[in-house]
Parts: sequence; C-alpha cells; structure tokens
Amino acid sequence: MSSWAIVGATRGIGFEYVKQLSLDPKNTVIALIRSQATAGPLNELAATRKNIRIIETDLSSLTSLKETADSISKVTAGKLDVLIYNAYSSGTDEARLLTPSAFQGKEDIFKREIDESLNVNLFQVVHTVNALLPLIENGQQKKIIYISSGIGDIPTTRAIEMPNFLGYSVSKAAGNILMAKYAVELKAKGILTLALSPGWVETDAGECISSSPEAFQWMLASFQKMDPRVKGMISTEESVKSQLSVIDSLDEKLTGAFISHRGNDKDWF
Ligand SMILES: NC(=O)c1ccc[n+]([C@@H]2O[C@H](COP(=O)([O-])OP(=O)(O)OC[C@H]3O[C@@H](n4cnc5c(N)ncnc54)[C@H](OP(=O)(O)O)[C@@H]3O)[C@@H](O)[C@H]2O)c1
Repeated sequence: MSSWAIVGATRGIGFEYVKQLSLDPKNTVIALIRSQATAGPLNELAATRKNIRIIETDLSSLTSLKETADSISKVTAGKLDVLIYNAYSSGTDEARLLTPSAFQGKEDIFKREIDESLNVNLFQVVHTVNALLPLIENGQQKKIIYISSGIGDIPTTRAIEMPNFLGYSVSKAAGNILMAKYAVELKAKGILTLALSPGWVETDAGECISSSPEAFQWMLASFQKMDPRVKGMISTEESVKSQLSVIDSLDEKLTGAFISHRGNDKDWF
C-alpha cells in the first residue's frame, strides 16, 4: 500500500504518472491540480479507477496548501509515501528566447521572467514540500521528487550551447540545489529527495517545438552536440516508466542528487 501525490496532474508527464501508478490497485494516487479546465482526461480516468483522488489546490496560497494537506491526510490516514512536484513555469513569452545580454534596457522584462519562473519552480516547491512534510514523515517510503530539467544543468548548458530559456534554467537549477538542501536536512528523519529530469518528452510543453520544423531542428541540433544519439522526443509513457525505476532506486547514497530518467548525470535525453 503506497500513497503518491502528483503536483500538476492534468496533462503531460504528471498525468502519465497518475495513469501508470493507478494501474496498481495497491497505490493511492492523489492528483493535485490547479483547475478543472484541463482535467477532462484525468476525470475520465478517475471515474474508472477508485484509487485516484483529485484535489484542486492553489500552490500560491499557504491556506490552500494547508487545506490540501488536510484533504490528503483524510484519504491516506495521515501519511504520504512519495511527493512528486511536477508543476512548472517555463518563463514568460516575451523573454523565453532572450539571451542574458539581450536584457540590457529590458530590465523589467528580465525581472518578470525570473519572478514568474522562480515563483512556480522554487518558492511554491518550498511551500508545497513544507505543507506536506508532516505527512511524508509518517510515510513508509518518505520520498520527495522534484521534476527538473537537463536545461538547468551547467555541464549540459555548456555542451548544448543554449543561451536562452534563462528564467526556466535558472529556476530549475535553484530547485536542484533546494533538493540537495532538503536531503541534507532531512536525512536523519529517513526522508530522501531527488531532482529528476524526465528527458526530452512529447507533451503540450514541447508542442511549440514539435509543431515547428525549424524549432525542432534547432533544438535537436543543440541536444545532438552533447549526445549524437538523440533522434527526437520520447513518449510520456517511456519517460515515466524510466523515472519510476529511478525513484524506486532512490536511497541514502543518492539522496539530494540531480539525475536524469536514465539514472545518471550524463544521459539527459
Ligand atoms: N516535456 C519535456 O520535454 C520536459 C523536459 C524537461 C523537463 N520537463 C519538466 O517536466 C514537468 C512536466 O512538464 P510537461 O512537459 O508534462 O508539461 P505540460 O504538458 O505543460 O504539463 C504541465 C502540468 O503542470 C501543471 N501546472 C503548470 N503550472 C501549474 C501551477 N502553477 N499549479 C498547478 N499545476 C500547474 C499543468 O496544469 P494545467 O493543465 O492546469 O496547465 C499540467 O498539468 C515540468 O516540471 C517540466 O519542467 C519537461
């Protein structure tokens, strides 16, 4: 009997986590969503599987997070085995493609880019983890997983030579160090953390890339500078299957690390 909470569970990788985990009737899967607007497929799945609970939550509100912790506690009898923080911000439309020096004279745009990204990818992570920590302490597995990105990795950035996506990259890098800090702090309580990159995955997030041949070729060529074997995106199914195997292997030796769905810090795609 394991309990899992997936933050950002309506679409893409988060929804695939709910799908794969709820296949096992011994799992209780809490799908945390910000709104019903995109929750159609999730609602349909939950109607067929009794072990899925959908809870609407506002990650920007401490009150809402407290209520969410109480709601989860009622479903799981006061415990949570694994928390997966998957929600994210990719920055702002106006700044996503700007390189650092292009922000000269656009300091307000730079601030919005960093604020927006850090808000979801760092601040709300701390608030969510802290709100759910008492439940995790009571869990058996005691695991906190932060879905990160290879784009927030310094050696990868140097290898793929991608100078933009500044807010996204900086905030994911911040999330990675945050997981290491939690790991060091919570080790004595048996709580394990991991920053986990899902690979390059076909989801709505990547649609602007996959639907434009030029954008796709640019990104593919960038990734191939680091790994010539990369041919394109992988499916959510493959990514989450691999991620679950990495989460399964998370132990005291690995806690606080930042690795990919392939279980290492080299194969990011
Ligand atoms: N796809 C890739 O290639 C790739 C690569 C590296 C890392 N990642 C990481 O993988 C994770 C999932 O990405 P994805 O590709 O699956 O994206 P996606 O298809 O756009 O799905 C994002 C999910 O997060 C939810 N979400 C976003 N902001 C939220 C917020 N403030 N509060 C609550 N929920 C929120 C969305 O809910 P709504 O439906 O309400 O919008 C949606 O369910 C992200 O952390 C991303 O950085 C993805």
